[in-house]
Amino acid sequence: MILIAYYSWQGHTEKVATALAEKVGGRLAVIEPVSEVGMLRKAMMARFGMRAPIRPMQTDLSDVDFLVVATPVWARKVPPYVNEYLAGVTNAAGKPFSVLVEMGGSGGENAVAIVKKGLEERRMRFISSAVTLEREVDAGRFGPVVDELARTIVEAAAPAV
Ligand SMILES: Cc1cc2nc3c(=O)[nH]c(=O)nc-3n(C[C@H](O)[C@H](O)[C@H](O)COP(=O)(O)O)c2cc1C
Repeated sequence: MILIAYYSWQGHTEKVATALAEKVGGRLAVIEPVSEVGMLRKAMMARFGMRAPIRPMQTDLSDVDFLVVATPVWARKVPPYVNEYLAGVTNAAGKPFSVLVEMGGSGGENAVAIVKKGLEERRMRFISSAVTLEREVDAGRFGPVVDELARTIVEAAAPAV
């Protein structure tokens, strides 16, 4: 079972995560804030690596074979709700994961590194990452990036014998 946990404030990450789920046959799980804060606070909380409460969702990975975390880039980092999700993940040791980040223009690799570190602290195994651009998503031109990420996931989830 491939779980795709994502947060999306304005719908771009959701669009890409949904396309990926269709491609790999994954199950989507949305990271929902208990409450959204204002724009300035969003940037500040991301910038300082803070956490903020999320609604109950699947964090126990006992029945998950592969995890994908999909997130927008905020202040070259990730939203506080994503930090909260990463901190809550359990029964994950040894399991593979990929990271998908969506951004306006810069900080993608930094955001990937944050998610990677968070899940490696849970002793998970990094497989791959991809970065999409807001304008490409708006134009519906993110297919090839999703295809390539999907390929690495399917390959790692079911290695050739
Ligand atoms: C608080 C905040 C901070 C942001 N910081 C960055 C940034 O550092 N780099 C970047 O490329 N885009 C940044 N963005 C733009 C988002 O990553 C981009 O709009 C993305 O498409 C949003 O995804 P969503 O529609 O799933 O919420 C920021 C957006 C917000 C709201």
